[in-house]
Amino acid sequence: MARFIDELKRTHSCGGIRAKDIGSEVVLFGWVQVSRDFGAFRFVDLRDRDGITQLVFDPEAHPEATALAATMKGEWVVGVRGVVRDRGMQFSKKLGKDVSMHNPSMATGEVEVLVHEAFVFNKSETPPFEIADDVATSEEKRLAFRYIDLRRPKLQRVLRTRSKMNQTARRYLDDNGFLELETPVLVKYTPGGARNFLVPSRIHPGKFYALAESPQLFKQLYMVAGFDRYFQITRCFRDEDLRIDRQPEFTQVDIEMSFVTQEDIFTIVEGLLFAVWKTVFGTDLRDRYPEGRFPRMRFAESMEKYGNDKPDLRFGMAHTDLTALVVEHKGGGVPMLAEVAEGYLKGEDRHDLPRRIVKAMVVPASATLSRADVDKLEEFCKGMGASGLARARLADDGTWTQSAMAKTVTPEFRAAVNAATGAKPGDLLLFQFGATAMVHTVMANLRLHLGRKLKLIPEYGTNDDWNFLWVVDPPLFEFDEETNTWAAAHHAFTRPHDDCVQYLESEQGKVLCHRYDLVLNGFEIAGGSVRLHDPEVQAKVFRALGIADEEARAKFGFLLDALKFGAPPHGGIAIGWDRVVMLFSGAESIRDVVAFPKTQRATDLMTDAPNAVADSQLAELHVKRDIKA
Ligand code: AMO
Repeated sequence: MARFIDELKRTHSCGGIRAKDIGSEVVLFGWVQVSRDFGAFRFVDLRDRDGITQLVFDPEAHPEATALAATMKGEWVVGVRGVVRDRGMQFSKKLGKDVSMHNPSMATGEVEVLVHEAFVFNKSETPPFEIADDVATSEEKRLAFRYIDLRRPKLQRVLRTRSKMNQTARRYLDDNGFLELETPVLVKYTPGGARNFLVPSRIHPGKFYALAESPQLFKQLYMVAGFDRYFQITRCFRDEDLRIDRQPEFTQVDIEMSFVTQEDIFTIVEGLLFAVWKTVFGTDLRDRYPEGRFPRMRFAESMEKYGNDKPDLRFGMAHTDLTALVVEHKGGGVPMLAEVAEGYLKGEDRHDLPRRIVKAMVVPASATLSRADVDKLEEFCKGMGASGLARARLADDGTWTQSAMAKTVTPEFRAAVNAATGAKPGDLLLFQFGATAMVHTVMANLRLHLGRKLKLIPEYGTNDDWNFLWVVDPPLFEFDEETNTWAAAHHAFTRPHDDCVQYLESEQGKVLCHRYDLVLNGFEIAGGSVRLHDPEVQAKVFRALGIADEEARAKFGFLLDALKFGAPPHGGIAIGWDRVVMLFSGAESIRDVVAFPKTQRATDLMTDAPNAVADSQLAELHVKRDIKA
């Protein structure tokens, strides 16, 4: 060891040698990718985070190094000193002539290093799987040996991308006057939002900290404290059911600004993402968004046309809400629709508070879905709680075929539906009706499913088709059918639109707010709001939510106090950084872009977390075990 590292310092990375280095002496350190014996020579591919260099060992010129190379196996860690040379020409028996040994698919493909001296730093056991991108190894195994998995070029690329994204974000935000400030991770539990992880306090028996689900309240306090522009690249913790785009701990680029409107916040985020796309991804988003701005859509329109608040606008197939038409035509001769219409006519359903709705979507004739295909779609819908999937194919004269509704539907209603949906002969109409939330969910997922099935969007990834959208003006409150009360749709400190304040205590369903999400290709990549800084309006919101003063004090006392001591108007946003990398790298899951992720069941297969702890540890924390571990 003494000579290598101590005396012989690394001169190049394994991905950094080029033709201009021919003739130079170099020292390389790295991992053996593969070792091949070619009789007269031995070749070893040496790998580090930057790439691979071909080493060549000549037994006549350097017998000692060659003998050592003969022992080298995959993943051994070695150092070499040698001279760079051109890979040259070699006689090809097949072609009957000399051919170039250059490998154009490798950055170092023109050169090789003739090794004079070699050293083995460490041997390796045979790794559990090959270090290559296209290995068919189960995810469980890869996660259990994540440090080996992370050697794969794809993951190396992802983590380098993340590093570059962080540097670009820091530079951009610093240039724009933001301070990088930290916030606590062990915080007071506050209700609302995601479920928190709780941490028992050893010093205060029976009391708990929560792990911060975001720096939300603290970043607001920074504004009250006059720091004006804050950012942090921070970890957040949420004990939620995991999905392909969710991890229990994840990273946000968290931003808060004083004296700003929603538009000012959009400008900063747009600038930041344009910079990241350009610097890190090499894509100029101005080609698509010449004004430097992303388009906007109102929440209500998003729900109506796409059934959710994160529409994937890379393809059409928008929904049409037929509820009003159904009511107008009293169900149009279709018994199940007549039931929905009756609900409205009797006043059980109201247009401002619909319990039940009717929606349709057109699948173009070109999709050529067979009856069996549509039956499969019906099963897909049933899996999401639908009782079926009503359908109708349009004949040349606009009448409906292949439809249980065809016999009874009135010609007027049919014509009205055809016109409202824009369906043409040969097209297939798919309908859902029933509880609002169910209809939205089923139709939203059906649209995405068809988008993929009909190859309008790829299964994963983006094909460089970056479709950004701000979804704006959502309602401040959600009606909770179970408790028959209004609940805050987001956090209780979101500012309502000024012209909606009048409805705060009378018609809560009408109150829209300054909350916004940024959507990219159907994924929510950022969310934020302009905050309520006015204690009077705040008190009204709490009243509307049925939160008594004492309760508000117990839950949010410190923030309410802070708002009384000169809080500037402020607002912010947090960008889900892992999701951005996931979309950019075309990953199938967020786990593929997090260095040490948790599985779908929230476990870490490598370290075996969560794990059982000793009774003595629990006693110290004043926690009693209820379940035998
Ligand atoms: P929000 O809860 O919308 O807002 O979160 C912001 C963004 O973080 C990402 N995200 C997640 N990513 C991975 N795994 C998760 N479990 C996860 N949960 C959320 C999403 C989301 O858009 N404090 C507010 C921000 C603010 O109002 O300023 C907040 O955290 O991309």
